[in-house]
Amino acid sequence: MRSYLTVFAPPERCGGPAPRIWNSQLCGYAGYRGTGGTILGDPANTPFTDLALQLGWQGPKNPTAFDLLPWIISGRDGQPQLFPLPQGLVREIPIHHPEHSWFEALGLRWYAVPVITHMRFRAAGTDYPASPFNGWYMGTEIGSRNLGDTHRYNLLPLIADRLGLDRRTSRSLWQDRALLELNQAVLHSYAAAGVKMIDHHTASEEFIKFRDQEASHDRAISARWDWIVPPMSASATRVFHTSMSEFATTPDFHHQPAPSFSR
Ligand code: ARG
Repeated sequence: MRSYLTVFAPPERCGGPAPRIWNSQLCGYAGYRGTGGTILGDPANTPFTDLALQLGWQGPKNPTAFDLLPWIISGRDGQPQLFPLPQGLVREIPIHHPEHSWFEALGLRWYAVPVITHMRFRAAGTDYPASPFNGWYMGTEIGSRNLGDTHRYNLLPLIADRLGLDRRTSRSLWQDRALLELNQAVLHSYAAAGVKMIDHHTASEEFIKFRDQEASHDRAISARWDWIVPPMSASATRVFHTSMSEFATTPDFHHQPAPSFSR
């Protein structure tokens, strides 16, 4: 898999608003508000889902926890426009487990490629507000964070119950064991589908190799420890035992205020 960056015109070249992609990623699953504060789908995308519905997005007739969101893009008039995704455009991977056959029936899935669309690219003194770029997944992004975090899909209790673990005490390490099986399932499923994904041990070794290569040319590298160190088995990776510092580099990506509109 390759990485691509597409840079759209900056405001200076537009004589008005520059294009903006309102999604935070090209792919994402809707988070629908239900009754009593419940959410169906990805809670991280609830505000965006609200906006899409407000702009007239219909969504599927029977909403599920994994409905791909439409694109919302504004051009030079600054007005958000809705672009529903053509069926089958996005590659998705159904999650199953190499040993636990019940896993598949949970109906979990994730998309193949993360494409960041909400960050501002800065190069040679110019800011480019619409600069989508892709990478490829590290398993823990999905297995630990997206599907495991309590404020995301929060699947650890369900998986622990299927594994028959004791959830009355945290000392049974039911959360850790559920995380392990979920991460194993994610890595296994992407590999089985032939979609590129890196595991956190390999990613750690690649980072250390990169750092050493750069050091041998007397170049320091900018890195954020809490982004580099994986969310599971941290101390079993070399990056955990490595100090890091973050400094400005150029070109680079920045967060920017979300676009908004009034009507
Ligand atoms: N963590 C984000 C997600 O789970 C994606 C961030 C970019 N990740 C990457 N491997 N390039 O969707």
